[in-house]
Amino acid sequence: MKTILFTQDPKDYKGDIIVYFLTQEQLSLIDKLPLDKNAANIAKKDFTGEFLKTFFTHLHTITPRILLVGLGEEKNFNCENVRKASSIAISFAKQSNLENIALVVPSIKQNSCFEAVAEGSILTTYNFDKYKTEEKQKKKPIKEISFVIQKEKAKETELILKKIDVICNSVFFVRDLVNENADIMNTTEFVEAAKKVAYEKKLKITVLDQKQIKKLGLNLHYSVGQGSKYPSYLVFLEYNGNPPSREKVALIGKGITFDTGGLNLKPSGIIETMREDMAGAATVLGIAKMAAELKIKKNIVAVLALAENAIGNESFKPGDVLTSYSGLTVEIANTDAEGRLVLADAINYTIKNYKPDLVIDFATLTGAIVVALGHEAAGIFGTASQEIEKLKEIGEGIHDRVWEMPLYDEYAEDLKSEIADIKNLGIKGSAGSITGALFIKKFVGETPWIHLDIAGVAFYDDKPRFYNSKSGTGNCVRLFAKYLED
Ligand code: BES
Ligand code: ZN
Ligand code: ZN
Repeated sequence: MKTILFTQDPKDYKGDIIVYFLTQEQLSLIDKLPLDKNAANIAKKDFTGEFLKTFFTHLHTITPRILLVGLGEEKNFNCENVRKASSIAISFAKQSNLENIALVVPSIKQNSCFEAVAEGSILTTYNFDKYKTEEKQKKKPIKEISFVIQKEKAKETELILKKIDVICNSVFFVRDLVNENADIMNTTEFVEAAKKVAYEKKLKITVLDQKQIKKLGLNLHYSVGQGSKYPSYLVFLEYNGNPPSREKVALIGKGITFDTGGLNLKPSGIIETMREDMAGAATVLGIAKMAAELKIKKNIVAVLALAENAIGNESFKPGDVLTSYSGLTVEIANTDAEGRLVLADAINYTIKNYKPDLVIDFATLTGAIVVALGHEAAGIFGTASQEIEKLKEIGEGIHDRVWEMPLYDEYAEDLKSEIADIKNLGIKGSAGSITGALFIKKFVGETPWIHLDIAGVAFYDDKPRFYNSKSGTGNCVRLFAKYLED
């Protein structure tokens, strides 16, 4: 898909459809649009400018069809509404098999919302229909989006568009990884994807294979993958965007390529989407790729903790007591609480061997976070309070949101084990996301740390939400583009 800036008169656009965004206060502009009289009269009657209401016509003298999309009342105007309106425009074009679309970037209260138009539209072009064999079942891909802007703004807008293209491609990269079948995007294939990123972006990559994981004493990580035919890996990619500085942030992703639950098998209705359980690792890899492409001035070590939580005669067992890399012993109360196990070892190993100043982990850790926050915000936990504040603020601003959850010491009591130092499960039905985070905290030590529970935002099992597609969403990539840049 191509994106271009169009600085001529929109009347000269020769594509399939041109979209105008209007607030309720801008309805008088209808007379200035290249509509013939009849069409303009109908538009004035039918189109109210209400938020997300549309008016479509091909009854006019120039070639492209015209779509009007309502932005609602001017007083309610904000970037997220523009993202949503832009998304509606692209969905309309996709449904109508229109391949070339122009969006006239609205400017309201002198506030150009180019970024929002670009993000909302580009992200909506994503399709994952490689498994549709009938051509007519496939959605026709959008070939080209033209953003209609004023000529004077072309230079600065060109740079912004380049950046947004990179960010959106990273979002698509994450979606593709998450959406693929677990037997194709298995642990070994995931390592190949990481190697490809490392090669293309010239990043240093270190891969610990299953044997090394065992030998180094990463027993929690090893045990989770022990029942799978796919080997476990711990992967490190190093991007040094700020060589003079010694500061380094570690981004660590849960990469369970499929979570059956292990011997505590997940039930039907829950298990079907568990290829999503590597979304943390996919997000981390997507962010590393994006950081390199945007030449972000930060030193980053991206860590992928890969394993499959499979069921079989080699699987680890409820009741096992394991010695972690840190030396703490863990009673396995439930083999389905596996994400915290791989993360505990991966985080502890990264802190000891890479000495980051800040650790941020990304994990589809708990179903409980979906109960608490639904699909509209990731849970954010941790000890790095200033950085948490930054992420909250940026997330609200660009609508890739995080909501802070507490790490009350009292809940750590729930993780006490009778036979080991700690167990991997709290009390059923009580603060599940918090006890998950508190388990990880035990392996972090003094390093400032943030945990993002992305189970609700990384994957939509129900429906798409405007520019975020159903299934893999790539959420958090936009958030970290802004956060790492600041
Ligand atoms: N991968 C799941 C969490 C999950 C649930 C991710 C729904 C995405 C959507 C995780 O490994 C898990 O099974 N968590 C258990 C924890 C419990 C056993 C303490 C859960 O949430 O039920
Ligand atoms: Zn699980
Ligand atoms: Zn899991």
